[in-house]
Amino acid sequence: MANDTNKFQAIISHCKEYGFIFPSSEIYDGLQAVYDYGQMGAELKKNIKDYWWKSMTQLSDENIVGIDAAIFMHPTTWKASGHVDNFNDPMIDNKDSNKRYRVDHLIEGFADTLATDGKEKESNELITSMEALIAKDDFAGLKKLIEENKIKCAVSGTCNWTDIRQFNLMFSTEFGSTVSADDEDNKVYLRPETAQGIFVNFLNVQKTGRMKIPFGIAQIGKAFRNEIVARQFIFRMREFEQMEMQFFIRPGTQKEWYEKWKATRLEWHKSLGMPSQKYRYHDHVKLAHYADAACDIEFEFPIGFKELEGIHSRTDFDLKQHQEYSKKKMQYFDNDVDPATGKPFGNYIPYVIETSIGLDRMFLAVISQAYTEEDLSTEDKKDDRVVLKFPAKLAPIKMAVLPLTKKDGLPEIAEKIIAECKPHFRCFYEEKDSIGKRYRRMDALGTPFCVTVDHQSKEDNTVTIRFRDSMEQERVPLNRLKEIILEAIV
Ligand code: GAP
Repeated sequence: MANDTNKFQAIISHCKEYGFIFPSSEIYDGLQAVYDYGQMGAELKKNIKDYWWKSMTQLSDENIVGIDAAIFMHPTTWKASGHVDNFNDPMIDNKDSNKRYRVDHLIEGFADTLATDGKEKESNELITSMEALIAKDDFAGLKKLIEENKIKCAVSGTCNWTDIRQFNLMFSTEFGSTVSADDEDNKVYLRPETAQGIFVNFLNVQKTGRMKIPFGIAQIGKAFRNEIVARQFIFRMREFEQMEMQFFIRPGTQKEWYEKWKATRLEWHKSLGMPSQKYRYHDHVKLAHYADAACDIEFEFPIGFKELEGIHSRTDFDLKQHQEYSKKKMQYFDNDVDPATGKPFGNYIPYVIETSIGLDRMFLAVISQAYTEEDLSTEDKKDDRVVLKFPAKLAPIKMAVLPLTKKDGLPEIAEKIIAECKPHFRCFYEEKDSIGKRYRRMDALGTPFCVTVDHQSKEDNTVTIRFRDSMEQERVPLNRLKEIILEAIV
């Protein structure tokens, strides 16, 4: 088994070789931190998306509906949300290389090196000092911390740093012919989060859906951030997808709902068979401008424990801001009776608990967990395989049908199987190469079931199912095949 750094590189190569992820516009040497999903990746991504959407909008015990808002929004949205003024990251430039770094990433990178060198204590102390300084927006202190630790630029190898400055992460563009690009007040932004599309539609959904608090609005969509240090493959991208849900609640109940959603979201990850020991919560020290509590659900990627999902108690910040900037009331009338007063709760601006997960990061978590190198050598023969042990419900291809030979009527039986199963799940047909090679290719794509049609199939209407993870085979009646696979992939 490759070590973790090698494993990460091996996963990136595997994604490219087997059609999961390609660098964007690769023929022009790619575009930094932008990626395209290939034929296998698009299927896996869609399956993750569908699983999230279904858990939120169909299976949840809570009342949650989904929307699909536009990427472009009225520019005032981003003033109201605070993104124009506050969606900044502290940056520092190296004067010799002119390379710009996000301060927290620069320090974290150095802390990782310390930890790798066995200096765990120093590494932890450095992160603690950094978090305390970030919480106070103490840029001079952060610069001192970088200098005291002699943190160098990876390109120039020097410690010749500028002062730390704030850098806004939103991309902007012109809109039609009515807005001038120089007109700061009318810039149109590519949304940096999908959440605001939900907030501005709060009353539309509440009224037309006759929604009663507590209720949620879910959305999946693209978001864009001009990340300065965009690295680590699809972990940090400039164009990515979010799966967000805003849960609208009565003011004063936010603590209890925050805890509930923290637990519910972690359970969702585990329901995919992802191991619990690979997850942990990380409470935020420095809260975003809109939050009164926030935590990350971190996953242990091959590059270490990193944020996968955020749970934020956003108070009534966003709705209040939109009410102020739009001059439209964002209130809800709650006619439930308050036991304390014996009267209805009446009008209020709801509080919000947000769950926000990056779809691409979830993809990376799933594929990192699935990627397995196995040594299958026996005394007589060296052998190994790379297998993607995806949860069957997420696998891009559910079933491969492989006739043992290209003749004797076996392909015809295989085609019949495919015709019967393809309306229900994604099937794949392959008759080229030896059966062993075909199995290995399906392992590398993460296909949980390979069905082999052989000469016995003609005699007794049975086929063998070969299970990806155990590599065991079982002979089953043809008329049971579809049900067996369907049971395994729900
Ligand atoms: N609406 C709240 C919000 O956007 P966030 O913590 O900035 O909060 C939420 O982002 C999630 O979106 C993160 O947990 C991460 O999974 C994903 N995400 C954020 N920036 C990303 C990037 N540059 N590339 C890929 N995923 C990203």
